[in-house]
Amino acid sequence: MLRSVNLRLLAPLGLLALSAPMVPVAALQIGGRPAEEWAVVLESGRRLGSLEIDAVVSRMGIRPGDVVADVGAGTGVFSVSLARATGPTGTVLAVEVDAGFLPMIAQKGVDGGVENIQTVLGEFTDPKLPRRDLDVAFFHDVIHHIEGRQAYLQATAQYLGPGSRVVVVDYHGDRPGAPHSGQPEMLITLRQVREWMSVAGFDLTQEFDLFDDKFFVVFTKRD
Ligand SMILES: C[S@@+](CC[C@H](N)C(=O)[O-])C[C@H]1O[C@@H](n2cnc3c(N)ncnc32)[C@H](O)[C@@H]1O
Repeated sequence: MLRSVNLRLLAPLGLLALSAPMVPVAALQIGGRPAEEWAVVLESGRRLGSLEIDAVVSRMGIRPGDVVADVGAGTGVFSVSLARATGPTGTVLAVEVDAGFLPMIAQKGVDGGVENIQTVLGEFTDPKLPRRDLDVAFFHDVIHHIEGRQAYLQATAQYLGPGSRVVVVDYHGDRPGAPHSGQPEMLITLRQVREWMSVAGFDLTQEFDLFDDKFFVVFTKRD
């Protein structure tokens, strides 16, 4: 069965020519532009230089042995750093909806000398994680790409255990000059994310001032 996605959500990455708003996901993810081409955009030197990967991961409070989901992992630019933070007794579940990214993530683990990254093929409405004892779910530059944000965050919450956290880094859609500003459907605000997370059972507990154009926040599951 074919699912649908709003193509306009992906156009700002330069990954797609704008066309009709809804197309079958299979055409987009498999028959569409190959993940290898997407990878060039995600791993451009300019982008990587702006991500502050180690600074972000070091602030996430990951403990040895934690189970962390890197949701919408792309090529896995954060996955190795997360895997090092959990240590060999922990696990990183790197979730993607595009199967073409999964071997790239696995290769990142090999190159990075870590053996605790497990790739997961998720669905557009549910990350389809293989376990329900997650300590942390991490969304970096992902939530604004998800069409049904509230439903997806609620689906993700099912996999998170007591005291768990959701860490979100995403663009302030309400700031002048925000990326994707010509596409209102791509713009999200911290206030919206707080509301979605509250409905999903999480409260904002930490906010880091690391980026000018992005919010970096931590939500903790209510008892
Ligand atoms: C801009 S990329 C960010 C990738 C990675 N987090 C990074 O920062 O390099 C957004 C990613 O989210 C993925 N994505 C979009 N919708 C998703 C969904 N519903 N579930 C999981 N991943 C999704 C896309 O396939 C894409 O790889």
